[in-house]
Amino acid sequence: MTDQKRRLRSRDWFDNPERMDMTALYLERFMNYGVTPEELRSGKPIIGIAQSGSDLSPCNRIHIDLARRTRDGIRDAGGIPIEFPVHPIFENCRRPTAALDRNLLYLGLVELLNGYPIDGVVLTTGCDKTTPSQIMAASTVDIPAIVLSGGPMLDGWHEGELVGSGTVIWRSRRKLAAGEIDEEEFLRRATSSAPSAGHCNSMGTASTMNAVAEAIGLSLTGCAAIPAPYRERGQMAYRTGRRIVEMVHEDLCPSRILTREAFLNAIAVVSACGGSSNAQPHIQAMAAHAGVELEGAAWQDHGYDLPLLLNMQPAGKYLGERFHRAGGVPAVMWELLQAGKLHGSSLTCTGATLEENLAGRESNDREMIRPFADPLMDKAGFLVLSGNLFDFGILKTSVISDEFRARYLSRPGQEGVFESRAVVFDGSDDYHHRINDPALEIDDNCILVIRGAGVIGWPGSAEVVNMQPPDALIRAGKTCLPTLGDGRQSGTSDSPSILNCSPESAAGGGLSWLRTGDLIRVDLNAGTCNALVEDAEIARRKAEDPAPPVPESNTPWEEIFREKTGQLGEGGVMDFALKYRGTSKKLPRH
Ligand code: FES
Ligand code: MG
Repeated sequence: MTDQKRRLRSRDWFDNPERMDMTALYLERFMNYGVTPEELRSGKPIIGIAQSGSDLSPCNRIHIDLARRTRDGIRDAGGIPIEFPVHPIFENCRRPTAALDRNLLYLGLVELLNGYPIDGVVLTTGCDKTTPSQIMAASTVDIPAIVLSGGPMLDGWHEGELVGSGTVIWRSRRKLAAGEIDEEEFLRRATSSAPSAGHCNSMGTASTMNAVAEAIGLSLTGCAAIPAPYRERGQMAYRTGRRIVEMVHEDLCPSRILTREAFLNAIAVVSACGGSSNAQPHIQAMAAHAGVELEGAAWQDHGYDLPLLLNMQPAGKYLGERFHRAGGVPAVMWELLQAGKLHGSSLTCTGATLEENLAGRESNDREMIRPFADPLMDKAGFLVLSGNLFDFGILKTSVISDEFRARYLSRPGQEGVFESRAVVFDGSDDYHHRINDPALEIDDNCILVIRGAGVIGWPGSAEVVNMQPPDALIRAGKTCLPTLGDGRQSGTSDSPSILNCSPESAAGGGLSWLRTGDLIRVDLNAGTCNALVEDAEIARRKAEDPAPPVPESNTPWEEIFREKTGQLGEGGVMDFALKYRGTSKKLPRH
């Protein structure tokens, strides 16, 4: 398998006869950290460990410990490990939003992988955007790369009930608004959901994106779902370290793995898992950086008809530990493969095809991973909508409750269609200030709309669309209204929202002229969402109304981000970066 004759890119740094001075400098510096000059001269591959864990990236902190096992694997397979930090990302704490960081980590990691003598890299992932950002960078540089997930936290429990990351916040907020619990109880429930090291333990964006890394063939089979503190997690780190060295000898680069079929497989897995709506921009972005054409409509065309197979919060009941015991991502993929819903011939980082990796991976826990023929829900994927308010918006159907379906989507003769009166908020501060204002007369004929929450408007695009109804409505038992917006929502939310609407209001999209009181008609059968406003009136408002408010940039990066980042419907990518794919094929000048 191995082709020892292929010259590794790191040799250019160390075997340059005209540059012995630089070589010596490198040797000395590296020696301080346990690498000998003999090793560096020996031609062993140098393997980067892109370390995403830190105190500012606590969801990935487990990687600080796991890196020791990864290094062991790299060394035992004949490689030289070099660990280095990447820009930290912490979903819950970063203001104004961690969405600013995905493209920033991407840029930084491209420079590191391109500019240093690195032959292959282990991408350490966990918290939401730490996965897509690193995969995007690996595609741009196109050196052998493998994803090592940190794994979810242990399951959270509170008074005998499973409490999942994020999901418990949204559910407890409703209880708080209804007066069923007090603030202290709210906090107890919230903290119980985070019992150990690891990323979010529900099928939020973190679990979704790590499942995606496995689905597209970039991590070893079964990697994504192993909880962070489990013994198997360390073993997976060791095996991942061993495997990346072989991948370097095989020259198994992302460009050979990340095909359109791989990304369609990912859409299928996200749909069957009830995964996060944030997977949409992230998968679009990873595909774009891999040079793969992936249209927004693919989410509906290749995912909507799929059933919900995984019984995990927020779409289902359970959390990450049971998911792992039930067989994890391979068991879900096994179901999809048997049903002919996966491209089994896709090459993966194991060197084998997906189909080969999945042999014998059927689940033995049918409460957790349902058979394809007996799912939790039929047609449970994502719907893609468009109309006069936006060209692209997405709706995650696996979290639409029976109560919501009965109230909005099951009117006799009008199944899948509803009309609601818009109540429009300019960003989340406006929402929080006014949501309980009786003058808005919000009732269950309303749809809550938020704008100014997109890439340019926020800036970064914020997880704010899952707006809660006014407290009075919740106390009356109406816990959920339809919502719509040009921002995102947390992958742990169970809100039936129309999200990621592009172009956003701040880019002149239709939400910019929408007014409170306008009627919005949603037709899920036709895939449309329109404000029932005459064209002439729209033109008049565009000409006469002031543009909705957008805050100023606070930092240099916010300004650059706003200038360079595209809309969520296309993945929020920096278009100019796409032309740099395959930089490792051209060594950087000395
Ligand atoms: Fe980091 Fe959920 S907040 S994984
Ligand atoms: Mg999130």
